[in-house]
Amino acid sequence: MEASHDAPEEEPGARSTGATAAGADEVRIRIRLDGPYVVTGSFVLTDHEGNVLDCGDRPNVALCRCGHSGSRPFCDGTHRQIGFDGRLRS
Ligand code: FES
Repeated sequence: MEASHDAPEEEPGARSTGATAAGADEVRIRIRLDGPYVVTGSFVLTDHEGNVLDCGDRPNVALCRCGHSGSRPFCDGTHRQIGFDGRLRS
């Protein structure tokens, strides 16, 4: 499977908050239901040593939240195959 770092299409059960798209200077991180963190806006992603990771020039990037992506830190859709339960609990 070829990995895609683009944010996946809307997943079933995803809810809109009614919020508008991120402004030019705003970084927005959206937690997808049982899926990745979708980062929108202008940002720099680095590894633990400060090395910049190439996110291309995409308008948004999906970061793996399940820990099973084959292209971490990016989401490759594996969360769907493993039935990732990403409900937040407090
Ligand atoms: S959240 Fe998508 S592969 Fe982990």
